[in-house]
Amino acid sequence: MTRRLLVTSALPYANGQIHIGHLVEYIQTDIWVRFQRMRGHEVWYACADDTHGTPIMLRAESEGITPKQLIDRVWHEHKADFDGFGVSFDNFGSTDCDENRELAQGIYRNLRAAGLIETRDVEQFYDPVKQMFLPDRFVKGECPKCGAADQYGDSCEKCGATYSPTELKRPYSAVSGAVPVRKASEHHFFKLSDPRCEAFLRDWTQATDRLQPEARNKMREWVGEAGDESKLGDWDISRDAPYFGFEIPDAPGKYFYVWLDAPVGYYASFQRICAREGLDFAEWTRPGSATEQYHFIGKDILYFHTLFWPAMLNFAGYRTPTNVFAHGFLTVDGEKMSKSRGTFITAASYLQQGLNPEWLRYYFAAKLNASLEDIDLKLEDFVARVNSDLVGKYVNIASRCAGFLAKRFDGRVDAAALAHPLVAELRGAADEIATLYEAREFAKAMRRVMELADGVNVFVDSEKPWELAKLEGRDADLHRVCTVALECFRLLTLYLKPVLPTVAEKVEAFLDVPPLAWGDVAKGLSADQPVKAYQHLMQRIDTKLIDALVAANRQTLAPAPAPATKPAKAATPVQPAPSPSGAAMSETAPDNAQTDSAHIGIDDFAKVDLRIARIAKAEHVEGADKLLRLQLDLGPMGTRQVFAGIKSAYAPEALEGRLTVMVANLAPRKMKFGISEGMVLAASDETGGVTGLFILSPDNGAQPGMKVR
Ligand code: 2FM
Ligand code: ZN
Repeated sequence: MTRRLLVTSALPYANGQIHIGHLVEYIQTDIWVRFQRMRGHEVWYACADDTHGTPIMLRAESEGITPKQLIDRVWHEHKADFDGFGVSFDNFGSTDCDENRELAQGIYRNLRAAGLIETRDVEQFYDPVKQMFLPDRFVKGECPKCGAADQYGDSCEKCGATYSPTELKRPYSAVSGAVPVRKASEHHFFKLSDPRCEAFLRDWTQATDRLQPEARNKMREWVGEAGDESKLGDWDISRDAPYFGFEIPDAPGKYFYVWLDAPVGYYASFQRICAREGLDFAEWTRPGSATEQYHFIGKDILYFHTLFWPAMLNFAGYRTPTNVFAHGFLTVDGEKMSKSRGTFITAASYLQQGLNPEWLRYYFAAKLNASLEDIDLKLEDFVARVNSDLVGKYVNIASRCAGFLAKRFDGRVDAAALAHPLVAELRGAADEIATLYEAREFAKAMRRVMELADGVNVFVDSEKPWELAKLEGRDADLHRVCTVALECFRLLTLYLKPVLPTVAEKVEAFLDVPPLAWGDVAKGLSADQPVKAYQHLMQRIDTKLIDALVAANRQTLAPAPAPATKPAKAATPVQPAPSPSGAAMSETAPDNAQTDSAHIGIDDFAKVDLRIARIAKAEHVEGADKLLRLQLDLGPMGTRQVFAGIKSAYAPEALEGRLTVMVANLAPRKMKFGISEGMVLAASDETGGVTGLFILSPDNGAQPGMKVR
């Protein structure tokens, strides 16, 4: 029976680079998709960039471009990375498209019509300087439990406590540094606590043929058993302007929270496929549809996919997912990926350094199973495993036998030899390997394939074709041995094809056979179809390549100067939700392009916290002939004392009340006359002020404390 499947991987945020943590998921999904295609099923693999939300809006702002320009640039980067790793999306779209707006708004309208949308006031932190509500991750302060400084508004990295931003001590906005104020605003909620949702989600999450056992148990904690009180709160799906996203129908100034329209992006991307391929989108997505729908995700975003998304779909009149497959995080050498150690490896750097993407595809396959366990990339093991399995065991079979067939037998196999028991043994493993692929037990599948390869190598080693080739009258034996080995190699290639599509393509070319599908297991090589000359298939990994890769990803930026006072922090573009799927990260700093000595990256620049300051007071300093003492008013950030070497150019009274620009995070400096807590900016020529000094002024409208970028 031909199955019809829609498969997705989580949509990557459009403000960061794809790294090897993400790749675990795309490679896992792609292997499964390619396997299903080889089985002859109708499979559509849809993905898109996840483009909305505050972090993307602020990131674009910090780069001086529009969000649309940012997401367009990142889309091209992501597309190149996925192409480079052979991730075979049928469409890679964007959540910022008309289809997605219409689908998301339609879903919202249907939920509203079903009585599942409610509005109520929510009090949240508001940045009075930036004039925006602050997502939890954009409020920082001292942990209410352990007192650790500079913790995010949702959880403490020191003690692990979780809390709401309003519980932070000495909170400040990570966007402007301002002290946030509480402000109420009307929010839209999806009423997950409604008894209908509760009942639906209990059934849906607890069905025994759905969700991995660990995921099902986790969800039981959330939804409870029938009769229990639900722990599900209503879901806040709106955000106030300014926000980059879709407006909520009939609610001007209110936008869908990014997580509302993100999963809808799966459907928007699939809609493009439907339009292109002439598929009936409504038929695929209607309740009771005979088609299947699978979402591959990281375990950090389970509840979005197993609670919110199925409930949205169900109550908006769509089918629900057939299943959701979550995987664990990636660690490198047993630790979180780290920029300073160079293990935060981007997809682009891997490709640029000339590493073969199929090495990583194979290594991940050899590690992946159907559970939520984390997987570890051990760099030494990566080299050893690829070299021993792929080059030493698999490729070696062809490289030792194919040449003789081409040279000595006109490329033709010995038809009778195809009945050899070793060939039969390899064919006999097809169902078992297929079952393992289907169940996402890729590590077991790879182990089984390598066991088979071991058997073939034992055969070749014992028959020694290179010796047979030198002996008189042993042509028939040589022909038989090479035929058996090459047919086995064809079968191994077929079994490895979901993982190694490029190698498989090369093998198909030299065997001169059509693209291998699962149904070709029993169709042995034909004596009528001579094989072509063997072509080189895969290089061994040289450890030096790994060293170079790690070096290329190591970021050794000089430590930032200590802030003069705590609240002066620059915007850090971090994700509000647990981020990004597939990666356990120790740092959330934005990825910056490699910089040369003549340039600095945007991250380096962002370390300098430039602020608008009002010169509240200016006075002469006794005993100092160049300095003026300035009291600078930074609005919500308080006041600072700065000694500025501008006495030659300004009378103090001419400065009072003026606005200027200061470096707010320069380490405080103890001077003879007192402590200087920053620096005001002034222009001068090469003489450094002898011929004139000009302090900077902002345009009208700038307010004390505003950030200068
Ligand atoms: O966690 C993330 O990286 C999200 N961008 C995943 C979104 S998946 C889907 F729901 F769109
Ligand atoms: Zn703490």
